[in-house]
Amino acid sequence: MDKINAVITGVGGYVPDYILTNDEISKMVDTNDEWIMTRIGVKERHILNEEGLGSSYLARKAAKQLMKKTGANPDDIDLVVVATTTPDYPFPSTASILCDKLGLKNAFAFDLQAACCGFLYLMETAANFIRSGRYKKIIIVGADKMSSIVDYTDRATCPIFGDGAAAFMVEATTEDVGIVNSILRTDGKGLPFLHMKAGGSVCPSSYFSVDNKMHYLYQEGRTVFKYAVSHMAEVSEELAEKNGLTKEDINWVVPHQANIRIIEAVAHRMDLPMEKMLVDIQRYGNTSAATLPLCIWDNEENLKKGDNIIFTAFGAGFTWGAVYVKWGYDGKKE
Ligand code: UT7
Repeated sequence: MDKINAVITGVGGYVPDYILTNDEISKMVDTNDEWIMTRIGVKERHILNEEGLGSSYLARKAAKQLMKKTGANPDDIDLVVVATTTPDYPFPSTASILCDKLGLKNAFAFDLQAACCGFLYLMETAANFIRSGRYKKIIIVGADKMSSIVDYTDRATCPIFGDGAAAFMVEATTEDVGIVNSILRTDGKGLPFLHMKAGGSVCPSSYFSVDNKMHYLYQEGRTVFKYAVSHMAEVSEELAEKNGLTKEDINWVVPHQANIRIIEAVAHRMDLPMEKMLVDIQRYGNTSAATLPLCIWDNEENLKKGDNIIFTAFGAGFTWGAVYVKWGYDGKKE
């Protein structure tokens, strides 16, 4: 019997209309465009500022575009998995809300939490469901409304993040393309450096937690920066080597978009030119689980069937890893 591979057959994306510029941020906290551009590399970020809408709204927009572009029949979708750190509600899952909004009758759905690394874990998860032979069509979505957990009085974090979502269709194929291999890692010792202090079962929401701003993202930037660079570079190189990919064989690296200096440092350590790194941080900022697929959404027209792509990310946990994909089609699907 032919080997079943899991191929990405389309991408959909969405960022909200409202654009928060560096000039506006400079009016909220003591910062300026020059500092943000040189230290982080974000020019603007999109913010979902309509009341009553959460990450499932972003996910729905991205997934609807994906279904249109791939001509998918809703009845054929077997599974929907959403990676998010900013779910609509603690429960039920954002994926279950999405499933309803998309009118999927035959799918089951769940959320996956791996912070900024969520989309890497999603690709590996979807690939294994497909390889099992039991599932044929899977939608994976990275969606985060980071503005809902960012403290806009904290200059160390508020310029970094934005809102957005993007989705891949993953399908079974016997062709030699698709999600080939991955190295995924987790180290729970990262907890003190990047987390949200309250709202979970250790410290449920209370007047105290709200008064003490414990529902915002907390980050020790310098520590996270250091680990992000070394871990993303190391694991990407290990994955390339494991799959016999030389520097020349790698067409693109899709790095998590957290800081342009992290991306440049990863390229330097991998001895790859910046032209091979897909970058859109200047337009969207760090959209957490959405950065990797948004980058593909932005660059779809430049991709060719057979391109060797290394996705890599680092996030809270710590979580990190790299996924090797052999791209499945030429150019942009309309
Ligand atoms: O997606 C999850 C993974 N997250 C990441 O990968 C993020 C990793 N970390 C980073 O990207 C960077 O560490 C930051 C962008 C968060 C901070 O950049 P940094 O170069 O590490 O700055 P720093 O925290 O070491 O601060 C340097 C200085 C400080 O001033 P002093 O103490 O030297 O006087 C900060 O107060 O820069 C100051 N500063 C700012 N100044 C102007 C911090 N934020 C700002 C700001 N504008 N927005």
